[in-house]
Amino acid sequence: ESSTELDISAIAPGQAIKAVFRKQPVFVRNLTPKEIAEAEAVDVSTLRDPQTLKERTKAGKENWLITMGVCTHLGCVPLGAGEGEVKGEFGGYFCPCHGSAYDTAARIRKGPAPKNLQVPEYAFTSDTVVKIG
Ligand code: FES
Repeated sequence: ESSTELDISAIAPGQAIKAVFRKQPVFVRNLTPKEIAEAEAVDVSTLRDPQTLKERTKAGKENWLITMGVCTHLGCVPLGAGEGEVKGEFGGYFCPCHGSAYDTAARIRKGPAPKNLQVPEYAFTSDTVVKIG
């Protein structure tokens, strides 16, 4: 089976969960209005891997940030989904292996990782269920 269905109804704003998709970790995060504003305030031309939050989320559901939980440097699992408040200095995720810090849109901001956390193919099948893959 190549897709994963997740019930996201229990993920409160500010929380992220870690699930499994194709044997790899996937992060599902319910961004707060403040986190959305922080992501949108960034000048994307300054980014290593320039993408807007809108390009990384679905229209009308910009609060749902769904990414692979695989650091784009050497593949460690970043912290910040289910480890409390270990989100790193840019408020998103932090990879402890070599210190890559991702922002609230899971874009790489500091450290050796070359790319943003990858956004998988996904679709909302209802307001509370997302199908990944
Ligand atoms: Fe994440 Fe190296 S694997 S910083």
